[in-house]
Amino acid sequence: MSFAGQPKTLPFPAYEEIRCATLNLASPLSAEDCAVQSMPDTSPVKWHLAHTSWFFETVLLAQRPGYKPFDPAFAYLFNSYYESAGPRHPRPRRGLLTRPSLDRVLAYRDHVDAAMARLLADASDAELAAVALGLHHEQQHQELILTDIKHAFFCNPLLPAYSTAAAAAHAPTVLEWRGHPGGIVSIGHAGPSSSNQDGFAFDNEGPRHPVLLQPFRIASRPVTNGEYAAFIADGGYRRSEFWLSDGWALVQAEGWDAPLYWLSDDDGQRRIFTLNGLVTPDANAPVNHVSFFEAAAYAAWAGKRLPTEFEWEAASADFAHGAVWEWTRSAYAPYPGFKPFQGMAEEYNGKFMVGQMVLRGGSVATPPGHARPSYRNFFPPPARWQFSGIRLAEDA
Ligand SMILES: [Fe+2]
Repeated sequence: MSFAGQPKTLPFPAYEEIRCATLNLASPLSAEDCAVQSMPDTSPVKWHLAHTSWFFETVLLAQRPGYKPFDPAFAYLFNSYYESAGPRHPRPRRGLLTRPSLDRVLAYRDHVDAAMARLLADASDAELAAVALGLHHEQQHQELILTDIKHAFFCNPLLPAYSTAAAAAHAPTVLEWRGHPGGIVSIGHAGPSSSNQDGFAFDNEGPRHPVLLQPFRIASRPVTNGEYAAFIADGGYRRSEFWLSDGWALVQAEGWDAPLYWLSDDDGQRRIFTLNGLVTPDANAPVNHVSFFEAAAYAAWAGKRLPTEFEWEAASADFAHGAVWEWTRSAYAPYPGFKPFQGMAEEYNGKFMVGQMVLRGGSVATPPGHARPSYRNFFPPPARWQFSGIRLAEDA
């Protein structure tokens, strides 16, 4: 496997650091917690632990002569979506995998890590590029571990807290409008010489290319819980005029009247379920767990719009981001001249470029150093179990 334009060196401590970080995320959880799957979109933590190891085993270790797979059955159980790697266990049924046990999956991780240590001792440039991809892939699954266990715990009537730490309060921040003159801007990752931690970028972030923007203004911070509550109080979920047709149909079908994880007591007292358990909403915190449809409806109610992903990237140095993924008004599509990774990783991004919207920025659940201004996250418009929020824009 090779990745044109990818860096030729890798900070080796990163392998151990990132693999350990995954285990640390799972450490507050029991074996039962790790086995559960709350909906077809989510995966059990145990599956994430195994699949990230399967990725290194399949892309790297199995390509070397003499490597002995830990368990031949795992190729079927822990392949996610790679047609070129053969058939796989259906995604919606991952929660039925009570076997292998969590202990056996942890032993699988140890087996892969030991073999990877031997590989890293004399890895080729092409292998190093694949290791970098495997580590960034693992970080993506670290965020999914948190989003997926949060949803699983929300489905448990006990509403368990993932963390017993108290959530930090947010100070009020005035919303300012940051102007951009428009014109031709360069969008996309510039390649390994760029300033992100190791020069890595996913294939979907390139090639860097010119885009023509009209003058616009973009909000200095995301929409807050307090602001979103005003939308709800103004009948936001009952007034079709703010909604895209598919979104309005979903509001009706699902009975949506607030973001995911917002609950009301019998006395009307609002609570929000978080990784820290059930809390009183922080009016100054960014609104979280909204779908693209809710983001677009809120923007329409506010008399604004969502930024395109190009506006977002062009202005991204002028505002803070990284608290919530921010829905953009851009469909997830290939940039002009897009070339997928080669080998098995050809299936990594390109085949998902239909029917999804781009989110930018990163969230509190994104591992430090993982995201960058050119980073393109993507989910279908109804999805709201990710840490997804809203930044507004308007024409100048
Ligand atoms: Fe994956």
